[in-house]
Amino acid sequence: MSLITLRQLLDDAAEHGYGVPAFNINDMEQGLAILRAAAAVDAPVIVQASRGARSYAGDVMLRHMVQALAEMHPSVPICLHQDHGNNEATCLSAIRHGFTSVMMDGSLEADMKTPASFEYNVDITARVAQTAHWVGASVEGELGVLGSLETGEAAKEDGSGAEGKLGREDLLTNPDQAADFVARTGVDALAIACGTSHGAYKFSRRPDGEILAMDRIAEIHARIPGVHLVMHGSSSVPQYLQDLINAHGGEMPQTYGVPVEEIERGIASGVRKVNIDTDCRMAMTGQFRKVAAEAPREFDPRKFMIPAMAELEALCRDRFERFGAAGQASRIKPIPLDDMAERYAKGTL
Ligand code: G3H
Ligand code: 13P
Ligand code: ZN
Repeated sequence: MSLITLRQLLDDAAEHGYGVPAFNINDMEQGLAILRAAAAVDAPVIVQASRGARSYAGDVMLRHMVQALAEMHPSVPICLHQDHGNNEATCLSAIRHGFTSVMMDGSLEADMKTPASFEYNVDITARVAQTAHWVGASVEGELGVLGSLETGEAAKEDGSGAEGKLGREDLLTNPDQAADFVARTGVDALAIACGTSHGAYKFSRRPDGEILAMDRIAEIHARIPGVHLVMHGSSSVPQYLQDLINAHGGEMPQTYGVPVEEIERGIASGVRKVNIDTDCRMAMTGQFRKVAAEAPREFDPRKFMIPAMAELEALCRDRFERFGAAGQASRIKPIPLDDMAERYAKGTL
């Protein structure tokens, strides 16, 4: 079963004017739920594994799991993507394990904490892009550091995020620098910074243009209209999931994510890949808590997993529909990696 590359998928998304959600996966239940949603609405999908996911599940397990999902849902083009690769070794080992796409996140140094210089970012990203393209795999780069425009800080709760306080211009991708970066690295997609951050605690109020700079995305798109843009930190942190968690023993302080209508605006401005992890975590955890609270005698994990998968499936389905990805899958025929490699070599991509 051949997986699709990010480049082919995002070229299709650009041609037909939609966005593709990139959902993080770590385990079988997430994979099953995401793929059920994709198949139900005929949507292509990006499943991405962080370094944390790779050490949690193991590369062999992830590879076979995604191959199994592809076999179960042959009509769904699936891109298997490395999320936030921190160096060449992470990206190349992912490709060796069947990933069709990698993110080389050179916005931070390899420790994933120290903001990197522009030259460091260009050098390492160009090196990974050249190598990945030799074997037909795609590369996403990142320019600008993810973090909150309210606090100047990145979220602390995951494995990638700048340490210390940053200024507004570090947290917003510069359109001219973006054009230079893409020309010098040859990336297939560019992750931009626009005020989103990872995790649940993105904004202390419903975001406006001061703290979520969607206009910056439109400016970047105007400067490099042919480049596929990627929005990280795109969970909406829906109120109904905060309420579900808190109604069953959770203690999440009130918080705000990226409203789905803002993502729709982003898609109209060239965003083609939309990264979502936190919402998926909240969907499953909300149901785990509900079962634990309502059936304290329950000890069969499947009784927790079944409603958790259903909640995640409903969330994914909604995002496929809202981003315009629904109804697009059956038209797309994945191009094998070798053919993609030939196209890069000939300079036709
Ligand atoms: O990049 C952030 C994603 O939510 C992955 O998080 O590193 O905890 O797997 P993780
Ligand atoms: P969220 O934390 O908003 O889901 O972002 C996930 C992400 O950007 C993964 O790379
Ligand atoms: Zn991210």
